[in-house]
Amino acid sequence: MISLENVGAIVTGSSRGIGKATALRLAQDGFKVTVNYSRDEEGAQETKKTVEDHGGSAIVVRADVTKPDEVAEMVERTAEEFGDIGVLVNNAGFSKHATIDKLSHDEWQKGLDVNLTGSFNCAKAVAPKMKDLGWGRIVNISSLRAMTGSDHGSHYASSKAGILGLTKSLALELAPEVTVNAVSPGYTRTPMTKDSLEEKEEQIAAKIPLGRVAESPEIAGVVSFLVSHDGSYVTGETINANGGIYMR
Ligand SMILES: NC(=O)c1ccc[n+]([C@@H]2O[C@H](COP(=O)([O-])OP(=O)(O)OC[C@H]3O[C@@H](n4cnc5c(N)ncnc54)[C@H](OP(=O)(O)O)[C@@H]3O)[C@@H](O)[C@H]2O)c1
Repeated sequence: MISLENVGAIVTGSSRGIGKATALRLAQDGFKVTVNYSRDEEGAQETKKTVEDHGGSAIVVRADVTKPDEVAEMVERTAEEFGDIGVLVNNAGFSKHATIDKLSHDEWQKGLDVNLTGSFNCAKAVAPKMKDLGWGRIVNISSLRAMTGSDHGSHYASSKAGILGLTKSLALELAPEVTVNAVSPGYTRTPMTKDSLEEKEEQIAAKIPLGRVAESPEIAGVVSFLVSHDGSYVTGETINANGGIYMR
């Protein structure tokens, strides 16, 4: 069994929110973490510091996940720094609150580019490294909206549903060395949801059997399970971490 200590893990979009919590959790699990961002350098440096304050090690690498050349450089940088790359968490995400009449073509395309094509770009770049290592874990962050749709984000729901198809396809293609799974969070407290939670957290919580929104470390914990040895026989699956909202 491979030792997970000191294997490199790339967490895209880890300058804040779920990505930041995931970077910290994977570092606590023993991985060496690449903290990725595209614009929020200050946030990414803060994530690195948080990891280091908890005794972990991390590097910060800027790369826009929609750009294959920047993704390739991030992967090379990670390999140079850590040697092996065993984990990729495709977490970077874009969302805009807009119905179809207000959503521009560019915003539609950006949703697909960041959320879906970005995940493809990163998986394509790391897969050969994982195959060489003979072990790998890819976790794609989808969303509750992949299953329910959204009345204010068709770009978002469509890209997140696409991620589930990508997850199953890559799980088939990259087996047996690499497992590929998705995590579909429900409402989670992050900068992305700050405005809507400020406006209506109580109404949202009332719809959730667990009676509250998730905190980012609760999503990071699900990712941690999937990349751990305990998750070794799970591939092509989606774990819904949504407080049981489906049952309402
Ligand atoms: N919060 C929720 O309730 C919820 C629910 C379901 C699913 N999710 C999913 O969970 C993931 C994280 O969400 P969050 O709420 O933590 O979001 P967030 O607070 O908005 O953070 C998004 C992260 O993605 C990065 N990012 C955006 N575009 C990027 C690009 N082109 N290249 C690289 N990084 C990029 C951002 O960094 P920069 O600004 O530096 O680019 C940031 O670190 C997303 O995929 C989201 O769709 C969230």
